[in-house]
Amino acid sequence: MSSSNGRSAELFDRAQRSIPGGASRATVLTEPHPVYVAEGKGAWITDVEGRRLLDVNNNFTSIILGHADPAIDGAVRAQLDRGTAYSLATSVEIELAELICERVATIDQIRFCNSGTEAVMGAIKAARAFTGRPMIVKVEGSYHGTYDHAEASLDPDPSEWGAPDAPETIAYAAGTPASLRDEVGIIPFNDAAAAETVIREAGERCAAVLLDAMPSRVGMPPIDPAFVDAIVSTAREVGALVILDEVISFRLGSAGAQALVGIEPDLTCLAKIIGGGFPVGGVGGRREVMSVFAKQGGERAAVPSGGTFTANPITMTAGLACMQQLDDAAFARLDSIGDRARSGLQAAFDKAGLDWQITGRGSLFCVHPNRRQIRTYRDARHSSDEAATMMLLHRRLLDRQVFLSSYGMGCWNLASTDADVDLFVTAIATTAAELTE
Ligand SMILES: Cc1ncc(COP(=O)(O)O)c(C=O)c1O
Repeated sequence: MSSSNGRSAELFDRAQRSIPGGASRATVLTEPHPVYVAEGKGAWITDVEGRRLLDVNNNFTSIILGHADPAIDGAVRAQLDRGTAYSLATSVEIELAELICERVATIDQIRFCNSGTEAVMGAIKAARAFTGRPMIVKVEGSYHGTYDHAEASLDPDPSEWGAPDAPETIAYAAGTPASLRDEVGIIPFNDAAAAETVIREAGERCAAVLLDAMPSRVGMPPIDPAFVDAIVSTAREVGALVILDEVISFRLGSAGAQALVGIEPDLTCLAKIIGGGFPVGGVGGRREVMSVFAKQGGERAAVPSGGTFTANPITMTAGLACMQQLDDAAFARLDSIGDRARSGLQAAFDKAGLDWQITGRGSLFCVHPNRRQIRTYRDARHSSDEAATMMLLHRRLLDRQVFLSSYGMGCWNLASTDADVDLFVTAIATTAAELTE
């Protein structure tokens, strides 16, 4: 069990004096205290207690080559000598933009920002400006960052969530204006008929449908092609745009999940891997729609966007050095690591007669302490017993050298070896067996 009177506990005591709750990031706050990291190298991190942990979270999917990748580090060090940020443009921004536009058929142009939250907010504002409409439709339970509209119905509970095919719009943060209910429609994942109804009801008020093809908080089930078709065709029918959030799923292939699932969004939100380990975001898409971000003659843009650290040369340099290494062979290796982990762990669960399962695709996975068929957020949502089991799994895995978040969602980086995968499989199967005894 992780030590509760060691260096991490001391740091957490100290943190609570100057930081409300003890950390700026909700997801690091695990019981009894956060894990404080001393360093990361390749697939492994070392915490301040000196424990070596296999990192299968990778900063919530943003690290894809491994920690402290030599090529990224070398490029960033060279840029550090030349300065970190200027209030003027640099050419490396153009290089990263060109690389992404070349790879993704639906991205003619891209505008960078500093996070996935900002990317989703920018895409929503662009869709509103382009269509002149106020409303979006999104999937129940799907996480898209912390913009008011994007976080609607992120984790509703049964007392408030409404009918399965007509979910209620629930504000996430206290104090969110009640107008949110008129500005966001909610659809269940993988329910084509409900999606059609909700999008049609939003009709001429609907600026865009916001979709993640691999939503982590919906448990990463496969997306039903009929659901994709329903969203795209109904959005087109009512004159709304389709925004695909590929903040996580862009790690599934050189053109993201859209090329695998067969969806052609008007706008795509990116972040995480395109920053090579540094804070980043980007909105890309059709030239006509992207023109809302461009200054028109002497006039300001329809959707002005900027930011002190936007497209700073450190992030752009790191992102370029990362993306240049992600060729077909790299994605094939990531797929094979992910497949080995999923098939190995599912076989281990089956062999031990455990009612657990693992979902996911490519380098992404999600471990579930149940065998329910998962198609929607309501299927994936943990009961309080399951949530407690997952928290225990997270904690006990630390003693077996694995760092898995208590969400059960994780991913692999390219520095992971087959031996790392086998360690992960054994550690999870053994711990799951202990927890279900
Ligand atoms: C699908 C998705 N969209 C958006 C975001 C927000 O990205 P960021 O944390 O960079 O703001 C996340 C973050 O995990 C995400 O998973």
